[in-house]
Amino acid sequence: MTPATAPAKLILCGEHAVVYGRPAIALPLGDVRASAAVASGPPGTGLRLLAPDLGEAWAATAAPDNPLSELALTVAARFGLAGADLTVTLGSAIPIASGMGSGAAIGTALVRALAAHSGVVLPPAEVAALVYASEQRFHGTPSGIDNTVVAYEQAIWYVRPPSPNHHGPSVPTLAPICIGTPLMLVVGDTGVRSATKLPVGAVRAAWQADPATYEAHFAAVGGVVTQARAALANGELPRLGQLLDANQALLEQLGVSSPALEQLVAAARSAGALGAKLSGAGWGGVMLALVNATTCGAVVEALQAAGATRVLVTTVGAVTDPV
Ligand code: MEV
Repeated sequence: MTPATAPAKLILCGEHAVVYGRPAIALPLGDVRASAAVASGPPGTGLRLLAPDLGEAWAATAAPDNPLSELALTVAARFGLAGADLTVTLGSAIPIASGMGSGAAIGTALVRALAAHSGVVLPPAEVAALVYASEQRFHGTPSGIDNTVVAYEQAIWYVRPPSPNHHGPSVPTLAPICIGTPLMLVVGDTGVRSATKLPVGAVRAAWQADPATYEAHFAAVGGVVTQARAALANGELPRLGQLLDANQALLEQLGVSSPALEQLVAAARSAGALGAKLSGAGWGGVMLALVNATTCGAVVEALQAAGATRVLVTTVGAVTDPV
């Protein structure tokens, strides 16, 4: 059977504050994908997961604490495949713990593959809900933006209002966004791997210790993201670049940047990027730079010279009539 796939993602702006009810904008990265393929396994083997790229293979029931085992068992049961002998082969070109949504993409591909194996095509909202439930069980307080942009595979404006007393999930608002002029982004990877939950947990501890300061901080990020939405819609790329820089400054104040990220951000700006910031949870992973056709090559070279372990260029087409 053809494998199911799912894209990587980039948070354009608003990460971290989105966990506290502020808006964020996320983009799919369709050229970099995760995949999952389901085949019948030998009798008596149950549900097995194979990750040949990592040289790993395991029985789902033997590793229930592995988020992918738990997601696979939950989804298999949902589609009447409980106890079936199935082999799920996972693959991914998305670096793990890099801010590019590798966990959400692998989870999404896995859900789609198991659903397809039982003859079901799931709408994006249901795929996103299944992956979100799994992320919640293993990662604490995700906003849900990663699994949502990956499942819908389109540029989104995303807000999850705080739930009453911060207990239980609330219902997110998501809207496609207008993009007046195509965006060209260069993504640079620091090569430093940092699990999302670590900076997210540090921000939560800081917010709990001093809610007034951090709420003001998150509100400032929300203001930047709201202005970025307008700049995107109007095709005002220099303005968007300034807003990305403003978001980076706020992320630095929040304590989720790092010297390696800031080295790449500075290199991109010096080479002519309109703006640059870390993308995702921070402390490592990737940064993005807004460029144009004239500056793109110089920014790529500057990031490579500044130590980026991987550099990729992505273009987001204009979306004038989003659905
Ligand atoms: C991670 O891609 C984005 C964060 O805002 C966490 C989240 O939204 O769950 C850092």
